[in-house]
Amino acid sequence: MLLIKVMSDLFDVESSVIRSEEPLTDVFAPTRLFHREGQRDYLASCMKPVVVGRMPRNVFLFGPTGVGKTSLVLWMFDELSSHTDNVRTCYVNCWKSGSTHAVLSKVVSDLRIFSNPRRQTKELLEDIEGSLKKSGKKLIVALDEVDRLESYDVLYDLCRSGCGVVCISNDEHALANVDVRIKSSLSLEWLEFKEYSADEMYDILSDRASLAFAPGAISETVLRIAAVQAGGDARVGLEILRKAALFSEDAGSSVIGKEYVIRAHKDAVSVKVRQIVGGLGQYQKMLFSIVENAGTVKSSEVWSAFSKEVGGKVSERSYRNYMDKLVTLKLVKASGDVRWREYSTTL
Ligand SMILES: Nc1ncnc2c1ncn2[C@@H]1O[C@H](COP(=O)(O)OP(=O)(O)OP(=O)(O)O)[C@@H](O)[C@H]1O
Ligand SMILES: [Mg+2]
Repeated sequence: MLLIKVMSDLFDVESSVIRSEEPLTDVFAPTRLFHREGQRDYLASCMKPVVVGRMPRNVFLFGPTGVGKTSLVLWMFDELSSHTDNVRTCYVNCWKSGSTHAVLSKVVSDLRIFSNPRRQTKELLEDIEGSLKKSGKKLIVALDEVDRLESYDVLYDLCRSGCGVVCISNDEHALANVDVRIKSSLSLEWLEFKEYSADEMYDILSDRASLAFAPGAISETVLRIAAVQAGGDARVGLEILRKAALFSEDAGSSVIGKEYVIRAHKDAVSVKVRQIVGGLGQYQKMLFSIVENAGTVKSSEVWSAFSKEVGGKVSERSYRNYMDKLVTLKLVKASGDVRWREYSTTL
C-alpha cells in the first residue's frame, strides 16, 4: 500500500484519555494512602521513640504483592523526616543490594558519610557508627525484600550499631531461618498487610484515575470492574487502568470501556507473573515452568519431571518448600490434600 506524506492525524492526541501516565506507575510516590490507617499507626508507634532520642522498635512488615508495604514505609520515612531532625532514614532494596557490603554501602551513600568504596564491611560499619555518634542522630534502615539478603548477619550488625530496622517481605516465613542470636537481638514486631477488598481498591483506583485521566474518561461502573479484577493487588489494579486507557486511545475512544478493562486484566496479571518469576531462584523457575507447561498437574508428576532435570541435586523436602513458596507468591494454585495434591497455573 502507498503511504503519502501529508499532514495526517497519526499523532493527534486530542482524543487522549491519559493526562499523565505517572500516577499509574510504580515511580509515583503517593501522598495519599488509603485504608492503611491501622498499619500507619502501628508503624508510627514503633518509630516514635527516635523522636526523643530513644531506640525505635524493630518491625517486620509482610503481606502479598501490591498491598502498600513499600509505599507506607517510604511515606512514613518522609513524615518522620519532616517532623524531626533527630533521625536519619535509609531505604535499601535487598534484591538490588543483597550483600552485607552492598547494604552498608547504600547506608553510607544515603547518609552522605565520607567514606571510601574500597573499605571493608567492618570499616563501613565503623564509619556509620562514627557518623551517628558525632551527629547524635538515630538511624532507621528499611530492608525491603529482606529474604534476598545473602546473609542475615547485617541485621545483627545494624542492630548492634544502634540502628533500628524495618524488614519487608512477601513471605511471612522469610525470617524463619534467621539465627536465634540475631532474632533475639532484633526482637522484631510483626505487622501484617492483607489484600485490599474490592471497595478499598476502588478508592485507591479512583484517586489515581482522577490524577491520570481526563475528566469523564472513566465511569464509576468501569472503575468498580477494574477494582474487582485487581484481585486485591493495587499494582495490578493500576496496570489494568493504564493498559485499558492505552487500548481505548488506540481504538480512538475518549472513554475507557468495560471491554478494555477486561482485555487489560490478562496483560496486567501476566506482567505481574513475569516480574515475580524473574526474581525466583533457578529451581523455582524450573518448577514454575513445569506447572505452566502442563496447566494442571499432579504433585508426583511435577516431582518426577523436576528430579529428572536436576538429577538428584534437590531433596523432596526442598522441592515441597519450593512449591509452597510458589503457592505463597500466588504463581500456582494447589488443590487436594497432601497425598493427592495438584498444581495449576493462576493465569
Ligand atoms: N493504600 C494505598 N493507597 C494508594 N496507593 C497504594 C496503596 N497501596 C498500594 N498503592 C499503590 O500500589 C502500588 C504498589 O504498592 P507497593 O509497592 O507499596 O506494594 P508492596 O506491598 O510493597 O508490593 P510488593 O510486595 O510487590 O513489593 C504502588 O504504585 C502504590 O502507589
Ligand atoms: Mg514493595
